[in-house]
Amino acid sequence: MINTPIDAKIVSQKINESTIKEVGKATIREIKRLVDEIESATGEKYIRMEMGIPGLPPNKFGVDAQIEALQKGVAAIYPDIQGIPVLKSEISRFVKNFLNIEVKPEGCLPTVGSMQGSFASFLALSRIYKERNTTLFIDPGFPVHKMQHKVLNLDYETFDVYNYRGDALKVKLESYFSQGHIHSVIYSNPNNPSWICFTEKELQIIGELATKYDIVVMEDLAYFAMDFRKDYSQPGQAPYQPSVANYTDNYILFISSSKAFSYAGERIGMMVISDVLFQRKFENLLNYYVSDGFGYSMVFGTIYPLSSGTSHSAQYGLYGILKAANEGQFNFVVDVKLYGENAKIMKRLFTENGFKIVYDKDENEPIADGFYFTFSYPGMDGAELLNKLVYYGISAISLAITGSERIEGIRACTSLIKKSQFSDLEARLKAFHKHHS
Ligand SMILES: Cc1ncc(COP(=O)(O)O)c(C=O)c1O
Repeated sequence: MINTPIDAKIVSQKINESTIKEVGKATIREIKRLVDEIESATGEKYIRMEMGIPGLPPNKFGVDAQIEALQKGVAAIYPDIQGIPVLKSEISRFVKNFLNIEVKPEGCLPTVGSMQGSFASFLALSRIYKERNTTLFIDPGFPVHKMQHKVLNLDYETFDVYNYRGDALKVKLESYFSQGHIHSVIYSNPNNPSWICFTEKELQIIGELATKYDIVVMEDLAYFAMDFRKDYSQPGQAPYQPSVANYTDNYILFISSSKAFSYAGERIGMMVISDVLFQRKFENLLNYYVSDGFGYSMVFGTIYPLSSGTSHSAQYGLYGILKAANEGQFNFVVDVKLYGENAKIMKRLFTENGFKIVYDKDENEPIADGFYFTFSYPGMDGAELLNKLVYYGISAISLAITGSERIEGIRACTSLIKKSQFSDLEARLKAFHKHHS
């Protein structure tokens, strides 16, 4: 038996005691529980890269504004379903300042996390056309979006974009769009799990094809402005966060406040529907809603029955954050840049010890350093690698659950790793490489 950094007997015992058949195939939450147990049994701290949770303190502008609203008594009052007017205007200002796009406040909706925004959109978009029943995922992607499709019993198709970057994306997308069964398409940008970012050319391809085939694009900006290769942090000044909104009017943007604003706990996000789509009428909606208007059906037919709007005080919290960002008092990129700095060092430690970065390029440019990265080790698939890494005090998740075809790949999340842990990470990776090369 080789001498692994974490006592192999205890690791094996804890795996056997758990309900997990194979670490490499377990879900994020199962891995979390297993590692919690090994940590408490051994007293050793793991390099925990399995969960995509923010690792920074909450946004102060948000907390202050939310406390003030609570003290004024908003907790007793139902909020407007479409969002409080001050927040709607501030979201509209935010997208003008940081994306350089014009959207009227009516299409700027607070949701219970970006998660609810996607759930509501999947539901409404599946009903706009009688003859179209399928969402297309440009993968790899966020597994919960597929879970939402499953609970809603909605059809989806997916492809891994790894081999379809640049011009190849056009042919691939058209092969789906031209069949006539796709109503909408979804991707995240920057991408969870691979941290690839679409280039302007790729966004243009997606947007122009969406217009040509009349398909709605859902652009998930959960990691807004977190491609740190460019500085998107200055209100009203280029460069702006790239978006498909520059190339089509058929879009819904999901902007989460969880990562960029470290506000995950309050479960508030933004759904931004283009003016054209908000006003658009779809006859088929009348089979489900009292109106054929898309915006009306989204607010009063979908968000209303889901949750009757979004927490009143959280709306004020988000208002406080956006106002500070819009007025240049709060640079929301500066704090989260730490994730990119850590990723850069962690990627170096992995590659120096025989590992490879799986999704490594945006067309010809190396990908950014950010919240996630993907890695593999020669000669092993992702599940096998995870099974082994757990004995070396390193936990992460397999790319297999994200719609990726790179079965050798693992997703690493950088957010919970402290600089003080880098020496442990290095020693463990060295030991792994020594035992396996
Ligand atoms: C791509 C992506 N979309 C959406 C979400 C969920 O965001 P929220 O916390 O605003 O619901 C996440 C969270 O990890 C994510 O990675």
